[in-house]
Amino acid sequence: MRQLGTMTIISNCTVSVIKDATASLIEGNLVAFPTETVYGLGADASNQQAVARIYEVKGRPADHPLIVHISTVNNLDRWAKDIPGYAVKLARAFWPGPMTLILPRTKLAKDFITGGQDKVGIRVPAHTVALSLIKEFEAQNGYGIAAPSANRFGKVSPTSANDVKAELSDYLSPTDLILDGGPCVVGIESTIIDCTQKLPVIIRPGDVSTETIEDLLLIKLPTFNTRSNKIKAPGLLTTHYSPNAKLFLTGTPAPGDGLIASIGFKTPDGVIRLASPKNNADYARTLYNALRQGDALGIKNIYAVPAEDFGIGIAINDRLKKAANK
Ligand code: TXA
Ligand code: MG
Repeated sequence: MRQLGTMTIISNCTVSVIKDATASLIEGNLVAFPTETVYGLGADASNQQAVARIYEVKGRPADHPLIVHISTVNNLDRWAKDIPGYAVKLARAFWPGPMTLILPRTKLAKDFITGGQDKVGIRVPAHTVALSLIKEFEAQNGYGIAAPSANRFGKVSPTSANDVKAELSDYLSPTDLILDGGPCVVGIESTIIDCTQKLPVIIRPGDVSTETIEDLLLIKLPTFNTRSNKIKAPGLLTTHYSPNAKLFLTGTPAPGDGLIASIGFKTPDGVIRLASPKNNADYARTLYNALRQGDALGIKNIYAVPAEDFGIGIAINDRLKKAANK
């Protein structure tokens, strides 16, 4: 029986810390690490037992596939085959960055990574700590680090090392690690693009927006719509990212309720302001922290005024809808 609740947070991620964390991954432990989107809960993507622990710690159903994190587009063909030209263009334009590509898998991507599907999700994150860790892991003959967001299943993704600790300390073991790389600069999860068809299809919106992709590829993408999305992605549920509080996207907050709204929006008397974003990017960066803060204060109802519906605002509103849907 593992001793629970005493894993270490390491905030000064020096070369020797990265080497130790890599050794720990190779031994089959979990290492939570920062990315520019949210913190990930990492394991050796080729080690079935280690990956099984991710599911156990998150409390996540086994058919939900995991994203494999690699250090460079040049290693993409280890994990994926029959890569369409547009996917190569996307990878070269936006990696390292907040984008995951779903591609036909090679033999390296086992069922325990893909949830039994013939396609695999791959991402190169843009964070120095994540990249150093993945590079060192690859230098030690590792192929990739599987990492979902480091939260319990269905809950709000963590955007700081302390959030990871708050979410998972009861489930991690003393040999697991949390690497602290500061607060996440994007703040919501990567854009996921299905690249197994003739044209790319966004299955989860993120910071790499429809407009940006259209500009790069000179094509028109179908409008993102959670409910009309027919692509099988078991993790993409209509309810997700939920705080303990009830979240409302319309209506009027009463005294004691929480409020998330852009900076120009006045706080009604007695209402607790949780965030006042200046623009969409600021909204994405602060949203999950505001939801967590609301829970920490024991607030029962949180009202959020949706973001402006363009760019990353589409992704914010997608997360708000899913968080409100419970
Ligand atoms: O920003 C992010 O993407 C973060 C950081 C840590 O990289 N990761 C993340 O992972 O959000 P996760 O597991 O919390 O969400 C990944 C989503 C899941 O909903 C999963 O179903 C979908 O990606 N996914 C992964 N591999 C897939 C595949 N082969 N086919 C379809 N969907 C896939
Ligand atoms: Mg997640």
